[in-house]
Amino acid sequence: MNKNLNSILSKKTNVKCFTTPSHGGKFFIKHKFYQFYKNDISETDVYNPEEALVCSEKRAAGIYGTVKTRYLINGSTSGIIAAVLACVRRGDKVLIWDNAHPCHKNACILAGAEMEEYSIPLIEEWGIPQAITVDILEPYLKSGDIKAVIATSPHYEGVVSNIPLLAEVCHKYGAYLIVDEAHGALYPFSDKLPESAVKFADFTVQSLHKTAGGLNPAALLHTNTNLDVDRALSLFSTTSPSYPLLAVIEATIHYLNSKKGRAKIDTLITQICELKENCTGVEFFDGDITKIVIKKQGMTGFELSGFLYKNKIEDERANDKSVLLLTGLGTDYKKLNYLFKKLKNV
Ligand SMILES: Cc1ncc(COP(=O)(O)O)c(C=O)c1O
Repeated sequence: MNKNLNSILSKKTNVKCFTTPSHGGKFFIKHKFYQFYKNDISETDVYNPEEALVCSEKRAAGIYGTVKTRYLINGSTSGIIAAVLACVRRGDKVLIWDNAHPCHKNACILAGAEMEEYSIPLIEEWGIPQAITVDILEPYLKSGDIKAVIATSPHYEGVVSNIPLLAEVCHKYGAYLIVDEAHGALYPFSDKLPESAVKFADFTVQSLHKTAGGLNPAALLHTNTNLDVDRALSLFSTTSPSYPLLAVIEATIHYLNSKKGRAKIDTLITQICELKENCTGVEFFDGDITKIVIKKQGMTGFELSGFLYKNKIEDERANDKSVLLLTGLGTDYKKLNYLFKKLKNV
């Protein structure tokens, strides 16, 4: 159980390999990413994992408290598709949000599932969706034989739904709950952030690249079922996964779970809290603190976004009412301080 992807890497590079990949870690066409080749080895088929990868994913499941955790080298997108393929048969009904990330619909198309769509009302003053409630989902669950429900929590802007409660109601009607926690990969590692879905939902996907400092498109699929997610993943995934990406996923999880990683998250939260307290230039939405959602009376979100852009600040997205600025492990105090200085002068 001691093997891990990063330690295997150093051993492998000392062996004369007559295997793929053909660059052998030595030949490279000169460009700024040439260092990448050195660690780009062929290890195992990631979705039929052996040895180091098995050990690594088992350790990850222990950290998250799940039945299985799988490393994804094609983003949360692939996790959502695999989750749907694992729990749905052709013609089964899947309940999805009508404004969800496109991968939710694509997953249903690939599974040959029938889609039912639910709507979520907006928090009008902010132009962002409310949390998903039992009242929204239950009428669909009552009236039809829904096999799976996909819920996005948090929403992009940090609105989080009560996942334990939603899981309970889904299970009451015999449906699986798949949670898209793409924007919540830090949640399991700080008490100051909302509760993660990983222990409650049947499936949870998290993008490590969005908030947790991982490389694009590193992500995780967690499940608390014994359904065959590996077979589901193998249906559409490469048999030549990127070893550097897998190693980055492993390293990211261990960093997040370390004292240093947890302290880094807490520092980010404390800094944002303090800067917010001293900033009266704009109003702040009260959600996941790491997602800074702002508005200003007399300005649309698009105008506010334009003001920020003129001040060399690029937001994640804006709507008619508000602007979203994402932070994560790579957001340092200098950058935050610059943002809040500008916000004072809106
Ligand atoms: C809510 C949500 N779900 C899923 C995804 C897909 O994630 P990934 O880019 O890791 O495939 C995104 C990406 O923007 C997203 O915003």
